[in-house]
Amino acid sequence: MNKNLALLFLTALLSGCSGEIVNKNSDIVEGYGITTDSGMVVSAHREGSVIGIEIMKKGGNAVDAAVATGFALAVCYPEAGNIGGGGFMLIRTGAGMCEVIDYREKAPLFASADMYLDKLGNVTEGLSLETHLASGVPGSVDGMIAAHKKYGKLPFREVIQPAIDLAEKGFPVTAEQSADFNANRAHFIERNRSLPAFVKDSLWKAGDTLIQKDLAETLIRIRDNGREGFYSGITARRIISEMKRGNGIISEIDLNEYRSVSRIPVTADYKGFKIITVPPPSGGGIILIQLLGMVEPYPLRDWGFHSQKTIHLIVEAERRAYADRSEYMGDPDFMKVNAGQLTAKKYILGRMSTFDEKSASLSREISPGSPGTETSEETTHYSVVDADGNAVAVTTTLNGTFGNSIVADSTGFLLNNEMDDFSVKPGIPNMYGLVGGESNSVQPGKRMLSSMTPTIVEKEGKLFLVAGSPGGSTIPTSVFQVITNVIDFDMNIQQAVDGGRFHHQWLPDNIIFEKNALDSLLVQKLAEMGHELKSRSAIGRVNAIQILSDGKRSGGADKRGNNSACGY
Ligand code: DON
Repeated sequence: MNKNLALLFLTALLSGCSGEIVNKNSDIVEGYGITTDSGMVVSAHREGSVIGIEIMKKGGNAVDAAVATGFALAVCYPEAGNIGGGGFMLIRTGAGMCEVIDYREKAPLFASADMYLDKLGNVTEGLSLETHLASGVPGSVDGMIAAHKKYGKLPFREVIQPAIDLAEKGFPVTAEQSADFNANRAHFIERNRSLPAFVKDSLWKAGDTLIQKDLAETLIRIRDNGREGFYSGITARRIISEMKRGNGIISEIDLNEYRSVSRIPVTADYKGFKIITVPPPSGGGIILIQLLGMVEPYPLRDWGFHSQKTIHLIVEAERRAYADRSEYMGDPDFMKVNAGQLTAKKYILGRMSTFDEKSASLSREISPGSPGTETSEETTHYSVVDADGNAVAVTTTLNGTFGNSIVADSTGFLLNNEMDDFSVKPGIPNMYGLVGGESNSVQPGKRMLSSMTPTIVEKEGKLFLVAGSPGGSTIPTSVFQVITNVIDFDMNIQQAVDGGRFHHQWLPDNIIFEKNALDSLLVQKLAEMGHELKSRSAIGRVNAIQILSDGKRSGGADKRGNNSACGY
């Protein structure tokens, strides 16, 4: 796409979305592309963003705000915000210390490699997505509490209280949410013994109030008892009774034993910027680093945003990175994941030795490399920066929209269907079309491989960008495009988030692109090079913050959903 067409696309995206800065109470500002002096939260729902900023204004830091926003999203964005799922929180303190808190779900202890196969060894459709067996042991509550315990400044009860209030008093649902609830109505009715709060007598419409009394009670138990309020006592008993009702296998031991894990981020240099991102059990960070490393030697800036050469190069890099994912990535507590080798510059550059500037390679001829023998979908991302420069990037999910649509027996929260992220049978694609093998097979107590990619970028040793996205397999490539839009194509953060997206993941061997993101001539030229292209609806929903050279925080909220930047 030439510059003018790219601008046209941005304008098309902007129309219908207000870019206006709204002055709420006193000095809190909300809107697209807003810039503020002190704190910023960009999340999937304005209630979540406002709650994060209010916590900062009460003296909380970025982790307090992130935890408050996380619990609030479990209330106001049940499509993906959750306490019944899992995620990754990447923290960078103002002093530059970094840590990942991995609260990815785990396979229950009664899980087994063939649990989704029938007697003939074929995958039983829907089992890993739509049933009680689809749920991994939830990690979000332990992870958020662990993060708060280590970094939080305000008492936990103050941080979780706004979410409780929101559940008790209710909030107006957006037009998009009302459509989501209505579209999922039959599933909520079929899969639950009693009707969850997401079903009412008539269909939902924008502005209707969603009140969640059961969820408020569950959050109160967490407020009063910490992790025990979820992993033992009434909440745990209800999760287990729900499992019994639906032949699920999460047990008391699974809940008691679940612990989030502190991990060291993976890092790399890209054109003098330091990329800090998540290690396995997410493959997202390694893919992001491989992509950046593979394109680094090429003059992207000269080739231009969405030029034929740029797209071809990126697609060829993506093809190779996703081939590695299929073979080498899984839970590091169960296998040796060679993150060092997979992100080594020499290895990454070697993977591009077969790159042909003139024509597309064929995925069936691209195998995973040899890195050395050392051997309807919904997720949500939010980015937080406080006045002291502490930064938090969180991606969290139930996997599918509303997970498996099953509310754990009168607790008000939805269970995840994350087990589908395992490779339920080698070579058989999961719901995102991703294929895998032994490295990501189901094993008791193992974490399923993720694509979530919460990422922080430093410039000259200082905080520069905080970003991440939902979108299953498209997450790493969405984050990659936003980073290169800023670093290589000189966009501001809102433009970088707005920019049209495309994606390739090795298999299936095609480029998917957002409708209208690439013009027909460009599509034709890429097809002539041997690429197969398919247009589709939105790819990813990136919520990002950029620190400007004068220290101000600039928020980029994705207009592909009702995402909201809020700051002060
Ligand atoms: O962990 C993963 O990679 C997936 N469960 C994420 C799912 C997702 O992003 C769905 N969102 N659109």
